[in-house]
Amino acid sequence: MTAYYLTTPIFYVNAQPHLGHAYSTVVADAVCRYQRLLGKDVRFQTGTDEHGDKIVHAAEDAEVSVKEYVDKISAMFKAAWPPLAIVPDTFVRTTDPAHMAVVQGILQQVYDQGDIYFSEYTGLYCKGCEQFLTEKELVDGKCPDHLTEPAKISEQNYFFRMSKYQEWLIDHISKHPEFITPERYRNEVLSFLKEPLEDLCISRPTTRLTWGIPLPFDSRFVTYVWFDALINYLSGLDYPAGEDFARYWPVAEHVIAKDILKPHAIYWPTMLKAMGLEPYQRLHVHGYWNMNETKMSKSLGNVVRPGELVAEFGADSVRYFLLREMSFGLDAGFSKEALMARHNSDLTNDLGNLFSRSLTMVKNFAASVVPQPGMPSAQDQELAEAALAMLGQYREHLDHFAFHRALAAVWEVISRANKYIVSTQPWELVKDPQQAAQLSTVLYTLLETLRLITLTLHPIMPETAAKMAEALGVAGETSLTDCGVWGRLVPGRAITPGAQLFPRLQQEVKDKPQPQKNKTMKEPASEKTPSPEATPEAEGLISFDAFQNLELRVAEIVAAEKIAKSDRLLKLTVKAPEERTIVAGIAQHYQPEELVGRQVIIVANLKPAKLMGVASHGMVLAAKEGDRLVLSAVSGPVANGSRVA
Ligand code: MSP
Repeated sequence: MTAYYLTTPIFYVNAQPHLGHAYSTVVADAVCRYQRLLGKDVRFQTGTDEHGDKIVHAAEDAEVSVKEYVDKISAMFKAAWPPLAIVPDTFVRTTDPAHMAVVQGILQQVYDQGDIYFSEYTGLYCKGCEQFLTEKELVDGKCPDHLTEPAKISEQNYFFRMSKYQEWLIDHISKHPEFITPERYRNEVLSFLKEPLEDLCISRPTTRLTWGIPLPFDSRFVTYVWFDALINYLSGLDYPAGEDFARYWPVAEHVIAKDILKPHAIYWPTMLKAMGLEPYQRLHVHGYWNMNETKMSKSLGNVVRPGELVAEFGADSVRYFLLREMSFGLDAGFSKEALMARHNSDLTNDLGNLFSRSLTMVKNFAASVVPQPGMPSAQDQELAEAALAMLGQYREHLDHFAFHRALAAVWEVISRANKYIVSTQPWELVKDPQQAAQLSTVLYTLLETLRLITLTLHPIMPETAAKMAEALGVAGETSLTDCGVWGRLVPGRAITPGAQLFPRLQQEVKDKPQPQKNKTMKEPASEKTPSPEATPEAEGLISFDAFQNLELRVAEIVAAEKIAKSDRLLKLTVKAPEERTIVAGIAQHYQPEELVGRQVIIVANLKPAKLMGVASHGMVLAAKEGDRLVLSAVSGPVANGSRVA
């Protein structure tokens, strides 16, 4: 079995986990799950970085011993991942004796071969980065990440002969286009390497810092943070003698954000080269989650706690949002409104509806079993081909960490499938026995499309995908290579429609209908309130102003469900263009699954009213003819929210 090894950075324990840390770890978890779907033997590692000045200061601030402090925060990181459905295989702590022994072994080896030497250095040291910065890296004399002025420090220390490996590194990056991805970061590193590299300071005197790993060849010094932290990627594999090291190191890949590009793209490969090891295969670099245009970080105090989001939205929704919203490599802004919008629109409306409509129809029209498909029509074939093509695009994008693109491709098929329901109209086919074969084909096509969509969702939303697979009767069928083909669902097998996949979360109606500032009309026109302008002769007629006061808009129904205990009412979610709930008395004329995707005309400025406990914001217009009721519509597609006048 081919091996795959992926790591996240090991996080400093000077702060509790926030959404930035969660993002890298969700990314790594999703990719590891994806690689497992491809049948690989996967090792997923994360951990905590527990040495250095920063940690000592954080413990002092918290008034506890450093050991107590690191134990507590490291445990918080470990506990933060399961609620997000993140399941690492190994969790390395740099204070583990086994890790410290590996670091000391490497230091001794590199020292013995002459690549670590003793010297004096004067430079600009940023406490936040725990590294020396060059003048060129400063912005207005300050560290661009921590917005503080670095201190000029001069002291005797041990240095790693990094400059010796500069030419080799340039050559290696040039020959391996995917060594650092996305490309912008590769270019950034190559441009940095145009200047001569300085050697890397790797120690601190114990007079200044004792919370580190003692140098095996000089106990007056402890090792400097990067020579300790980066080695976690090896110590977690029981380097040098462990079988895991032999198995996983040749396929190692790392996920980081751009803040630690230099240590990972320059220090780490040159350290590995000095040790006589092959470098990692690929370094995947992402951008920052920002809050109000600035990087989310503990020092700026603008962090979001992943646990709070999970409590409100659920793990799968948060994972989906993080992977869909950020273009890997670029920065993205976080807001709860954006998360809420994606939850309600992409998950509840698009995916949730497709799933529940399809399964309800299989239950009602095919006795809850997979129907035997007949000859596919062009329309059926088109959806099947689009679903299969999507699988190819999904794999291509995930192989390159382009999660947003992979998910856009999946959602494109979800949207097609929703439209396919509207155009094939299974609720009409069921009325005509002549059309039975066609109905079976439509339902089969929908179920197969859903099965392929489910496959793609396992890495992204594991809990939701498991629920979907269970309902489709394909739990455990997760191999992308074996199952990513058309026609695996066996006719006659049971389908078990389950509960709703995603609850709709309450979103404020931002665009509340504003009362018109038209002084001639105080009340909206209604049958019972004749217009003040209506003359006795023209009784029953309304003025143009009165008509103007009625706000008629085109709205798309994006969700529909029955209201418990009412056989007349349906709860509709419409986009007009803002999302709102409308309760409509149409349950005896329309099934919920035939409504989604239709555009209707609504009265948008009707006073909200509660019907069977559900607040209704507007009214859907329909024509009545005896017992028949037919919904209003426009004769061609128009933008949601367009005024009807
Ligand atoms: N301990 C070092 C890493 C050593 S790895 C051998 C460190 N720790 S850290 O706690 O500061 O974590 C930095 C990492 O956290 C980033 O590279 C990224 O993975 C994640 N993020 C922290 N803030 C982030 C954002 N605002 N946005 C995206 N990712 C962020 O550096």
